[in-house]
Amino acid sequence: TDGHYIHPSILNADFMSIGTELDRIATADSVHVDVMDNHFVPNLTFGASMVEQIVERSAIPVDAHLMIEDADDEAPAYAEAGAASVTFHLEAARAPVKLARDLRRKNTQAGVALRPATAVEPLLDIIGEFDMLLLMTVEPGFGGQSFLDTMLPKIRRARAAISEANLEVSIQVDGGVSRETIERCAEAGANIFVAGSAIYRAQDAAEEISALRELAQR
Ligand code: DX5
Ligand code: ZN
Repeated sequence: TDGHYIHPSILNADFMSIGTELDRIATADSVHVDVMDNHFVPNLTFGASMVEQIVERSAIPVDAHLMIEDADDEAPAYAEAGAASVTFHLEAARAPVKLARDLRRKNTQAGVALRPATAVEPLLDIIGEFDMLLLMTVEPGFGGQSFLDTMLPKIRRARAAISEANLEVSIQVDGGVSRETIERCAEAGANIFVAGSAIYRAQDAAEEISALRELAQR
């Protein structure tokens, strides 16, 4: 959890040119890939075989965010596809501790994600089973939505509890992260920042990545 990391989301990239879209963000720390099944969220993207191809093509590690039902059965395939981290939603898992252990056994970092309306407190007793906590700062499903300021106290409470327990768990924020909102997230205790439209809409993605990194470290 030492250091601040920028993870561009390719959800708003041009899917017809995914190779060159990955090249545009090669100075980032990881590429965030949003897997959606049209059930957990009202949008559909791609599955494990596409993720495997992205892993092969990408110069940087792949951070898979699964917005899918049946995480227990579906998530291990993304570890097998070579993702460096696999994050599933708590709302979609029956046995989150067992699943985290399954993922870690496959040499992948295990992440757990919460929708905006899911409380973080019930998760705190098992947070040590994870490498990363993803706090959604928009309703999951689409890029380009506005950041929910009301999530800042949740980030702060999660960071306080993790520090109090002497654990090393990263906090990732995802949704509406931009030059306007990243400092508040960092100040509240997030250390991994997903940014989709902010980076892909920029003329110079590398410049946007370094600007975000600098603001996060302030
Ligand atoms: C939304 C996805 C995000 C999305 C972020 O459900 O999980 O990763 O791509 O896009 P922006 O940064 O545009 O909000
Ligand atoms: Zn995401």
